[in-house]
Amino acid sequence: MLERVENLKSQVEATSLTNKEEAEIFRLQYLSKKGAIQELFKAFREVPADQKKAFGAALNTLKDLAEVKHKEALEELESAAVVGENGDLTRPGQPQELGAIHPINAIKDEIVDIFKRIGFNVSEGPEVEDDWHNFTALNFPEEHPARDMQDTFFVQRNPDWALRTHTSSVQVRAMENNQPPIRTISPGRVFRNEAISSRSHCIFHQIEGLYIDKDVSFADLKQVLMYFAKEFFGKAKIRMRPSYFPFTEPSAEVDVYWGLENEIDYKITKGTGWLEVMGCGMVDPNVLRASGIDPEIYTGYAFGMGIERIAMNRYQIPDIRLFTENDKRFLEQFKTGL
Ligand code: PHE
Repeated sequence: MLERVENLKSQVEATSLTNKEEAEIFRLQYLSKKGAIQELFKAFREVPADQKKAFGAALNTLKDLAEVKHKEALEELESAAVVGENGDLTRPGQPQELGAIHPINAIKDEIVDIFKRIGFNVSEGPEVEDDWHNFTALNFPEEHPARDMQDTFFVQRNPDWALRTHTSSVQVRAMENNQPPIRTISPGRVFRNEAISSRSHCIFHQIEGLYIDKDVSFADLKQVLMYFAKEFFGKAKIRMRPSYFPFTEPSAEVDVYWGLENEIDYKITKGTGWLEVMGCGMVDPNVLRASGIDPEIYTGYAFGMGIERIAMNRYQIPDIRLFTENDKRFLEQFKTGL
């Protein structure tokens, strides 16, 4: 009889329980009321009296062994199932990667900040703009060839709407909605139907400045641009070249004197020493009138610059397309030091 207990014990020990079905079969076979261990308990009566003690002890050990084995197997299978669903919960967590400030945003913030310090506020306008705010109020007469200066994406559903070609549309809105003095800066995305190359892109960013008050003069414009050149580029010298924009008269292109000390300066300034940074001018009386401001009382200046160009210069970025490709290797470089 004792031998049967020993046999059963080695069978129990040899059984491996690798899934729930096996565990259940094991339970039925050994631990249930009709299982092999209970059968041996029933056979207890037939065991000769002198062997009862040893038999009973061996049988109880076997029962404990089988029960523990079954219980442990179930626990292990249970936690393995959790791991299967959720991964190994004891593994260290995945560190959250920190993002970087996009170079366009970094430059925009820096420029906005420079103008905020001298009393400019920030205004924004819609990216889908109507003809009035993008062109007509800005003194682009209908059919006027100046509209061709800016290759426009029109909205098919409504030919009166277009993706704004410049942030100058926001100056019109600022004047329509406020009375002078107006001192505002408007950063934003603009759109032009241009052939995409390493230097130009259909979507880019501008920042527009507008100051309207009594007695605002071209000298005030020059002064504020010199302040900007000093604060942003750390350069003291600028020059203004006559230019044309429908919405300003007179108009100028602004160059910052960069210097020509080394090879990079040559590259940046195409050998001239001057860096072209923006367009500007005195707001045309027609624009003031169209926007609800009396040009007999008020005058003002406006300027506008492309953020991409400035960012490319600041960070030595060779291709404008890098800004929109979302290549992590590019963006990661702006994690620190901005
Ligand atoms: N809107 C002009 C452009 O897109 C820039 C500009 C703004 C020029 C304000 C003069 C005054 O090129």
